[in-house]
Amino acid sequence: MKRISLTQYLVEEQRSNNSIPAELRLLIEVVARACKTISHAVGKGALGEVLGTADTENVQGEVQKKLDIISNEILLEANEWGGHLAAMASEEMESIHPIPNRYPKGEYMLLFDPLDGSSNIDVNVSIGTIFSVLKAPEGMAQPTEQDFMQAGTKQVAAGYAVYGPQTMLVLTFGNGVNCFTLDREMGSWVLTQSNMQIPPTTKEFAINMSNARHWHPPVQRYVNELLAGDTGPRGTNFNMRWIASMVADVHRILNRGGIFMYPADLRDTSMPGKLRLMYEANPMAFIVEQAGGAATDGQQRIMDIAPHKLHQRVPVYLGSKDEVARVTAYHQE
Ligand code: AHG
Ligand code: MN
Ligand code: MN
Repeated sequence: MKRISLTQYLVEEQRSNNSIPAELRLLIEVVARACKTISHAVGKGALGEVLGTADTENVQGEVQKKLDIISNEILLEANEWGGHLAAMASEEMESIHPIPNRYPKGEYMLLFDPLDGSSNIDVNVSIGTIFSVLKAPEGMAQPTEQDFMQAGTKQVAAGYAVYGPQTMLVLTFGNGVNCFTLDREMGSWVLTQSNMQIPPTTKEFAINMSNARHWHPPVQRYVNELLAGDTGPRGTNFNMRWIASMVADVHRILNRGGIFMYPADLRDTSMPGKLRLMYEANPMAFIVEQAGGAATDGQQRIMDIAPHKLHQRVPVYLGSKDEVARVTAYHQE
C-alpha cells in the first residue's frame, strides 16, 4: 500500500484545487495532533489516571469526567499559539474562548466536543472528539459569541476522531469525506479510506429505545414500523445498534449505512433533544451530507438551522438518505 500521510494529503489538496488555504491546513494539522494526544491519554486509561469523574459540572449541568476536562485542555493549548484562530468554543465551556492577546490572531473559529461519549469512557468502549471550523467575520480579530451564530452551511471544515480499536480521523472540507488511521508507532495519520459513501438504503437503526414512551407520535410511528419487521408495513426486518457515543454510531453509519436518531421528546420542551447543534449536529451533518447521506431535525436540514445560542440543542436524524427522508416526512405530515 502506498502510504499517504495527512500532511501530504493536505498539501496536495491545497496545490491541486486550492481548496485548503495554508492557515486552514495548519489548523487541521494542529487539531489532528491534539487528537493524537487525546488518543494517547485514552489508551492509557487507569495507567494514566485519566478515568473517573471530576468534581465539576459543565454549563449544561452534566457531571464532567476527567477526560472531558483533559481533552478540552489539550485542544485549547494546542490551538492557542499557532496564529490560525480568532477564537474557540467548546461544549465544556460556558462562553467562547478568545485567543490570548500575546498571540497573533487568524481568520478561523474552531468549535469542539472534546470528548464525545462520556458514559463510555470508564467501560473501554469507543469515544471520540468532534470539531467544526467557521470563518470569523472579515477583519474580526476578537469575535463575540454572536459571530459564532452561523448556520452549518457556513462550515469550511468538520471532522471527528474516534478512539476505538483503531484511532481514526474523518475529515471533510466540503469536497467528499476521507478517513485517516493513526499509525501509533510512527505517530502519523495515514489515508486509509477516500471518498466515503453512505448507502442510501439501510436495514439498521440507532436510537435510545429506553426513551420510547416519551417520543412524539412521528417517531413512535417510524420506529414501530421498523420493529414490526417483515410482518409490518415495511415488509422487511431491521436490526438495531446503539453505542451511545455519537462518534462511534456515525462512524458505523459512514462505513455501512444506517440511521441515527436522537429526537426531541415530551419530557422537557425547553430541551429539544440532547445533542448540541454547534459541536455535534452541524459537524456530523456536514460529514454525512458530504458522504451522500442526509441530516435533518425532523423538519429541516440541520445545516440550514439559524443558531441562536452557543449550547443550543436540536433533534437529530442522520444517515442513509431514504430513511432520513421517511422519518422527516412523518414529522411533516
Ligand atoms: P457527550 O458525551 O459529549 O455529552 O455526548 C453524549 C451523547 C452522544 O454521544 C450519544 O449519542 C448520546 O449522548 C448518548 O445518549 P444516551 O445516554 O441517551 O444513550
Ligand atoms: Mn457529545
Ligand atoms: Mn462531550
